[in-house]
Amino acid sequence: MRLAIADPPYPPLFRERFDLAGGGSRVTARSRATRWYGEGPRSKTDAPRADVHPEAAKWDDLSAHRELLLHLVENFDGWAIATTPDGLGAYHPLPMNAQIMAWERPTAMPGGGRLIERWEPVIVYIPVERRTRAGMRVSNVLVANAPSARGGRRSFVGAKPAEWTRWVLDALGYDPATDELVDLFPGSGAVSAAADGMLSLGGAE
Ligand SMILES: C[S@@+](CC[C@H](N)C(=O)[O-])C[C@H]1O[C@@H](n2cnc3c(N)ncnc32)[C@H](O)[C@@H]1O
Repeated sequence: MRLAIADPPYPPLFRERFDLAGGGSRVTARSRATRWYGEGPRSKTDAPRADVHPEAAKWDDLSAHRELLLHLVENFDGWAIATTPDGLGAYHPLPMNAQIMAWERPTAMPGGGRLIERWEPVIVYIPVERRTRAGMRVSNVLVANAPSARGGRRSFVGAKPAEWTRWVLDALGYDPATDELVDLFPGSGAVSAAADGMLSLGGAE
């Protein structure tokens, strides 16, 4: 089967702010794509840019995310998209049999609001033949820390830990012997490296 993992730059962060003179509100949009992978504004405390892609700003347009989903539906038997809780709406409406899994990151930076930001969704579309409870079962929650921001692949902002890749591939029923896997946004290469590790182990556990 043809499987894909898509880990694109996340959609922009939209906020309604109530700071206009006279008490009005305005909507702000902060680009995550150009902050981390392009030439956009960033904070003094941000980690160094992982890489710079000339078309990173494309992901500030919500329709690009929708097009990505349609591309996956048309070209793959099973797929996964990594995103952020506020970014899920960019992908709606989801195909009827798509599901949301939760990656909980216990030591993630808490963010600046009342709610501490500790999880990221993964939209998964499991190949139809692999949706039953026969064989391996997989939790729809993974608790794992993101790679620490020091050294090599670990310093790549947005890099996924090996546990994340194994979890997503287990959910998709990945069989290294028969499946073709496409990593659409390789970044540090962590996803493909973890998948290759499963190959050398002789398959998903
Ligand atoms: C979230 S990161 C992927 C991280 C990767 N899964 C890992 O574990 O290292 C997103 C990647 O998409 C790249 N990217 C940005 N804009 C892009 C575009 N228009 N087309 C393709 N890739 C793009 C970024 O440079 C970055 O490497």
